[in-house]
Amino acid sequence: MKRGLFITAEGTDGSGKTTQIKLLESYLKDRGFEVVVTREPGGTKIGEKIRSIILDPDNTKMTYITEMMLYVSARAQLVGELIRPSLEQGKVVICDRFVDSSYVYQGFGRNINIELIEKVNSIALDGIMPDVTLFFDVDPNIALSRRIRSTGADRIEQETMDFHRKVYEGYKKLVSKYPNRIKIIDSNRSIEEIFLDVKENIDKILERCL
Ligand code: ADP
Ligand code: TYD
Repeated sequence: MKRGLFITAEGTDGSGKTTQIKLLESYLKDRGFEVVVTREPGGTKIGEKIRSIILDPDNTKMTYITEMMLYVSARAQLVGELIRPSLEQGKVVICDRFVDSSYVYQGFGRNINIELIEKVNSIALDGIMPDVTLFFDVDPNIALSRRIRSTGADRIEQETMDFHRKVYEGYKKLVSKYPNRIKIIDSNRSIEEIFLDVKENIDKILERCL
């Protein structure tokens, strides 16, 4: 591949993104691709420091604008340090969450103006957008309980169910706005069934790129 392939995974907290990314990573490596897996917020040394500030349950005074700017700062670092160079080297980059998370969590969840979010993010993205986004579609109630059972709740996961519902509805709206880029993956199924769907979607895209 000349320019690499940029895949992002989106969904409410606990929707199974990390589980599916691991399966996709080993599938693509077996097919001979060089694969870079990363996550947001984080993925770089600087970004992981920003992540710990954002998710710290003690940071109860953080304003929504501070929160948005921290996500964008971590994103700018990740794009510049890892995503852009990896794509230029022809690698497949899989990112657990990306700019769509800012649209739905900060836009729909926190009610920050979407145009403002777009503007600030355009600085961080610097022209980089995912080739394909997999939206892991599962009821937020089910997703969150799966997740909290396994790891405990961070600052965002401690938000009300009303917040997580708004985020989920935000994803639905985003999918209808970008139907070509965002693929819906019904994630109310078993890990194996979901992965078959993921594989089918990615295989189709690879056929077009190769
Ligand atoms: P995310 O990265 O979206 O937060 P994870 O992949 O970490 O989600 O999954 C959250 C929890 O749910 C984990 O304990 C994982 O083992 C479990 N899990 C993932 N996919 C499924 C599934 N299809 N059915 C049941 N449990 C699942
Ligand atoms: P994380 O534990 O990585 O999420 P997941 O449950 O998907 O494994 O936590 C990241 C949290 O940050 C998650 O609740 C979503 C939120 N978030 C935003 O609000 N805006 C953003 O731009 C990003 C990237 C994440």
